[in-house]
Amino acid sequence: MSLDRVKQLRLALEAYNRAYYQEDNPTVSDAQYDALMRELEALEAEHPEWITAQSPTQRVGSAPVGSFASVRHAVPMLSLANAFDSQDVFAFDKRVADTLAVAGLVGLDRQVDYIAEYKFDGLAVSLRYEHGILVQASTRGDGTTGEEVSSNIRTIKAIPLCLAGSPDQWPAVLEVRGEVLMYRQDFEALNQRQLQKGEKQFVNPRNAAAGSLRQLDPRITATRHLRFFAYGWGEISGVPGKTVAVEPQHDLFALDTPQEGLPSDTQAGMLDWMASLGLPVNQGRQVLRGADALLAFYHQAEQDRASLPFEIDGIVYKVNALRAQQTLGYVSRAPRFALAHKFPAQEETTRVEEIDFQVGRTGVVTPVVRLQPVFVGGVTVTNATLHNEDEARRKDVRVGDTVFVRRAGDVIPEVVAVVLDKRPEGAPVFAMPTSCPACGSALERLPGEVAWRCTGGLFCSAQLKQTLIHAASRKALDIEGLGDKLVEQLVDEKLITSLADIFKLHREAEQARLLALPRMGKKSLENLLAAIERAREPDLDRFIFALGIRHVGETTARDLALALGSLEALRQADQERLLAINEVGPVVAASVHHFFQEPHNLAVLQELHELGVQPKALEVATAQVQTLSGKTFVITGTLPSMSREQATQRVLEAGGKVSGSVSKKTAYVLAGAEAGSKLARAEELGIPVLDEAQFLALLEA
Ligand code: IVH
Repeated sequence: MSLDRVKQLRLALEAYNRAYYQEDNPTVSDAQYDALMRELEALEAEHPEWITAQSPTQRVGSAPVGSFASVRHAVPMLSLANAFDSQDVFAFDKRVADTLAVAGLVGLDRQVDYIAEYKFDGLAVSLRYEHGILVQASTRGDGTTGEEVSSNIRTIKAIPLCLAGSPDQWPAVLEVRGEVLMYRQDFEALNQRQLQKGEKQFVNPRNAAAGSLRQLDPRITATRHLRFFAYGWGEISGVPGKTVAVEPQHDLFALDTPQEGLPSDTQAGMLDWMASLGLPVNQGRQVLRGADALLAFYHQAEQDRASLPFEIDGIVYKVNALRAQQTLGYVSRAPRFALAHKFPAQEETTRVEEIDFQVGRTGVVTPVVRLQPVFVGGVTVTNATLHNEDEARRKDVRVGDTVFVRRAGDVIPEVVAVVLDKRPEGAPVFAMPTSCPACGSALERLPGEVAWRCTGGLFCSAQLKQTLIHAASRKALDIEGLGDKLVEQLVDEKLITSLADIFKLHREAEQARLLALPRMGKKSLENLLAAIERAREPDLDRFIFALGIRHVGETTARDLALALGSLEALRQADQERLLAINEVGPVVAASVHHFFQEPHNLAVLQELHELGVQPKALEVATAQVQTLSGKTFVITGTLPSMSREQATQRVLEAGGKVSGSVSKKTAYVLAGAEAGSKLARAEELGIPVLDEAQFLALLEA
């Protein structure tokens, strides 16, 4: 009876593993899984004679080994020829088509069928199943001889200890070739744990996967959450049922065991067959005809790769028909029927020439390394950020160091790690400066913050430059022509000392000085001044955003503009009023309030006003009749179908005003669910309270 239960539990646990690791579709919760596992462990503890090596309890069984034994691969593990651009791919396709044409294996159109597969960035392993049971696992090694890592491989839950289906479907021998890798998320978590334990950080998921697989203690490997995807095979024999006769593929194969009948005559069919045996085969694969289709797949994958849970470093193209593969054969140790089309590397090593400190718009001082130019992630990188003092110390980057630099997608390049072996003697330890590198003001690091900030405010030329660059940017005042370089010059030449000075540049004296700047012609000056003129009447939200108030991004600026309707209202809003605005929390409210308390900021705003800079209230689709003209609303609680912001907008459209606090001047309180003190106050003062339906009816009136 309980032996049946043991068998049932084993089948269930393996099925859950498959659902989770192969199909990415968990069918039970972790807690349920753990409970079944505990039940199985308990039964096996009672009856040790029932334990088999295939039991899911036996994944982390063995004690540490002293060293890894070597394994000679029955079929060698080859490598792939690389392609770095589309020319290489067209050339490959032509060679393949030419050869297959001679053999009569391609049509007159010479369009070859391929399969494109993700090129997983991990390490190659070979898993040997005999009669459905995993009996040995090894690393690639030099391709002929690898290391036996069976105990470690057994800890990888994605890898079945026993194939799925029934024994009459299992081949006598199946060597599965594939890639062991680590998901990005598991890599981040591992590095976090390493950091806490004061242990070495891994540079990338591939290194972490390799380090984890080559652990002498499988109990450590088990904590690393490795994964596996199958993409090929080595020796196969004794496949039950109808099989396709395939001759020995390679003279190297002939040395050892030849392949007998296979269950399919295509690469795609073989992968499907392996998947049917419970082996994880990734979805990132597609059968395609012709080189253009391969390149389209490649470019799509290039877009998708950042959102995959694991890293891929390219696409592998393989001729799909096994007959055709066989005809094409091998050159040295790589197949002629396959090609690895690599993505531009996202990581490279280069030398640190200097460590500089950049001062941002809000005064944050960021350590930046100046690098010997290096081509990485598709561009030439000369700078990389170290983020902040703590990061810089943790990474211990020094001038003269060789470092790993990473640039993935559009993210800012960063230094990942130092190659300690290459550190020159006497390289000075990193230190933050004690004063601002731009203006000499003191730096401060507020409690709880990682950043050091310059205390110079807009007296600091670096902060001023960044403030102006931000204000002129496309999403703010959108002053075309006023870019980084010109702002630098204008500040350095003291042509501009505040935001307001931008609107003085049209004056004669200023124009003359502008024309004296290098690369400033009459025409570009005209264009610049015209762009500045257009910015004299900015939309209110853009203007608020342009002010560069801390924590006020584009969206918040719009919320503020919609809710308050004018710069004057924003200036006068106290924190309570600000907090009444949907999406505005205490941090934003405090920051906005603080901004308008600063005499310097008020002076700049006053000057802008005098220079004729007049932000326009947002043009909300104005209602024909201003039904609520002159009426002040207070909106509180959660409304059933609209946000408070939307309600605010409706009030403004109808000519009304919205305030954050209830007073005798309040015309109506619009109250939703969980309205609190404002509703109480309205009732106290006898002010009419509307629900959403009544409010909408009022608007219609
Ligand atoms: S096929 C006979 N397919 O790339 C060719 N390899 O540069 C055997 N790799 O050592 C390899 N994803 O570790 C193949 N879908 C894929 C792959 C893949 C990653 C790795 C593999 C191999 C290396 C070759």
